[in-house]
Amino acid sequence: MKILLVYYTGTYNTRYLTDKLQAELETRGHEVDRVEIRRGAQVADAAKYDMIGFGYPIYGFNSPLPFNRYVKKLSIQRGQKFFIYKNSGETFGMNNASSRILLRRMRRKKADFAGEYHFVMPYNIHFAFDADFVREILDKNNKLMRIMLHNLECGEVAKIKSNPAYNLAAAAVSIQKVGGNVNSFLYRVENDKCTKCGLCVKNCPEDNISLKDGRIKFGHRCDMCMRCSFFCPANAIDIGFLEGWKVNGDYHLAKLEAQGAPRQPYITAQSKGFYKCFIKHFAQIDEQYKELFGE
Ligand SMILES: Cc1cc2nc3c(=O)[nH]c(=O)nc-3n(C[C@H](O)[C@H](O)[C@H](O)COP(=O)(O)O)c2cc1C
Ligand code: SF4
Ligand code: SF4
Repeated sequence: MKILLVYYTGTYNTRYLTDKLQAELETRGHEVDRVEIRRGAQVADAAKYDMIGFGYPIYGFNSPLPFNRYVKKLSIQRGQKFFIYKNSGETFGMNNASSRILLRRMRRKKADFAGEYHFVMPYNIHFAFDADFVREILDKNNKLMRIMLHNLECGEVAKIKSNPAYNLAAAAVSIQKVGGNVNSFLYRVENDKCTKCGLCVKNCPEDNISLKDGRIKFGHRCDMCMRCSFFCPANAIDIGFLEGWKVNGDYHLAKLEAQGAPRQPYITAQSKGFYKCFIKHFAQIDEQYKELFGE
């Protein structure tokens, strides 16, 4: 098949998944093109492809606004196959509502749904995950990726159920509008910490950051992707009302993945609080994996 991967990424977790997905698809003999959505990204000729994979990080229980805007511009054909590989830091039910806008759009175009998959990736906001937890997540993701590829090739359609209450609540709490329009007025750079390395300026997907008169300045078309503050080597960026939830510093995913899953499972039947939601999610992956591949 000729496959197009269309994805948005802030701190590169979705890019990490996309790299893997592309490599796996190519190994299986498929031809893959990809578009990373950022300001000015060319609109792909979707009609050329047998299947489209849509990847995004969940933002406030929704798909990212730049992702939605880009998908709207694609000319989707009737009967065109598509699948979703979304990711987020937890698996609370409300995250299930995040694909409703994309699914509605594709339904209107009479596209052919080939399945939806929710990968867990470490938080880039709220708090930093422990290295052992990340290793376990990446191990489960490899299994889920194999399940997804198997299903896509066999025509097995995996669905993720949302419900009207989740959909309504997710629409109500869409944090991005506030983020882009209001929070960016509060972004500040601590000038004594900032080394003027220019990384944030170069990498912002909205070209929203500039270096003027020796100071970093922010505009007001921020996606709240956190790329600037997450990767700032001097941890010099104050992200306004989200400052208390800032996560700074690369997880070095490839390095953690190479170490494999931790010897003692991080998530167990006794996991509590925030970690409870992963018990069922990981168990389902293990179960399906065993059913399909007997390992
Ligand atoms: C503004 C914002 C809102 C987020 N909202 C959620 C959320 O509702 N649920 C969740 O599980 N993770 C949430 N996250 C975490 C990201 O979905 C997660 O870290 C993801 O892997 C980031 O992917 P990326 O590196 O490709 O941007 C949020 C992150 C940001 C920056
Ligand atoms: S990435 Fe950080 S240190 Fe580098 S220019 Fe931006 S704010 Fe300054
Ligand atoms: S200003 Fe920072 S958070 Fe906003 S879009 Fe640019 S890199 Fe992302």
